Amino acid sequence: MPPQYHDQSFWDKRFEDEVLFEWLGDGQDTILPSLTNVLKQYKSNQCAVPEILHIGAGTSAFQEYVKDVFIEVYGADVDCGKILNTDFSENAVTKGRHAASNLGTRSGMRWAKADLLKWKDIQNITSNVAGRFSVVLDKSTSDAISCGPSMTIGAKMESDINPIFQEIWSRYSPQGLPCSLAPLELLAMNLAFCVEPGGIWIALSYSSNRFPFLQSSSLSASTNDSNEEVVDLSNLWSIERMIAVDAPSGQEKPGVHAPNVQHHLYVLRRMSWIPRSYSDRNDTAPASSIGFSEEILGSDISD
Ligand SMILES: C[S@@+](CC[C@H](N)C(=O)[O-])C[C@H]1O[C@@H](n2cnc3c(N)ncnc32)[C@H](O)[C@@H]1O
Repeated sequence: MPPQYHDQSFWDKRFEDEVLFEWLGDGQDTILPSLTNVLKQYKSNQCAVPEILHIGAGTSAFQEYVKDVFIEVYGADVDCGKILNTDFSENAVTKGRHAASNLGTRSGMRWAKADLLKWKDIQNITSNVAGRFSVVLDKSTSDAISCGPSMTIGAKMESDINPIFQEIWSRYSPQGLPCSLAPLELLAMNLAFCVEPGGIWIALSYSSNRFPFLQSSSLSASTNDSNEEVVDLSNLWSIERMIAVDAPSGQEKPGVHAPNVQHHLYVLRRMSWIPRSYSDRNDTAPASSIGFSEEILGSDISD
C-alpha cells in the first residue's frame, strides 16, 4: 500500500524525527522565479503588499527563501507577517517556528496549524488577514492531498461548509442530493474562498495532470437515476501556465545513468466568480484589476 500522504497521523509520526526534508527540491529554481515576478508586478502596480499563504510547509526550508524574496522586492522594513506558513501537523508547525527562531533573527513570518480540507480551519486562517490572500504557495502539498479518497457530502445542506461549495452544490443539486468530491476539488474550493479574485496559486507537483477537474470537472451531484450532473470549477480557477521543470538530481552514482525526471509547475489564477453569500469585506484592490502584463513565470525556467 502506498504511504498515506493524505493522513495526518502519517505526517505527525514522520515529523517527530525529521528535521529537514525538501519535497521536489528546495523550490529556488522552480517556484521562486514565478513568485518574484508576481511580487514585482504587485509592487509596480502599486497594490497593497500581498498576503502570502504557504500551504503544507512540512519540514522544508522553502519559507526562508520566500521571505528573502519578499524582502528583496519590498525592502527590509516589509512586514513578513504577511507570510503565513501552514500545515495540518502540529509537529511541522512547531518545528517551523523553532527553526525560524534558531536563525537568530526575528523571522516575523506567521505559522498556523490548519487542515486545508476543514472549513473551520479555512475560516480561521482567512479571518486573520486584511482582505484575502493574493498568493498561495504549494510545494507538493496538492500531491499529498490528492492521495486521499473521494468524499461524499451528505444529503442535506450543512451550514458549516464553505459557502462556495454550498452555492455550487445548491445550483447543481437543488434537492441536496449526495455529492462526490475529490479531495483536490475541495481544496480548490477552500482556497478559492481564501484568495482574492485575480490571485495566484503556484503549485509544484510531480504530476503532469494535477488539476484535471479544471479542464473538465469531475465534481458530480448524483441524481436518483444515477445520472451525474457535472459542476464546472473552472469558474474558480484557471490554469494560466503549466511547464515541466527538471527535477533536482540526487540519485546519481558513478557509472549509473539516471533518467531525467521532470516536475510540473502550475500557475493557477483565481477567477472573478464569487458566491452570492460571500462576505462583504473591505478588500484592497483585487489583483483582477491589476492587469498582469508579462507572463508570470520566470524567464530562467525552460518550457
Ligand atoms: C509532500 S509534503 C510537502 C512538504 C513541503 N511543502 C516540502 O516541499 O517539503 C506534504 C505536506 O502537506 C501536508 N498536508 C497534507 N495534507 C494536508 C492537509 N489536508 N492540510 C494541511 N496540510 C496537509 C503534510 O503535513 C506535509 O507537510
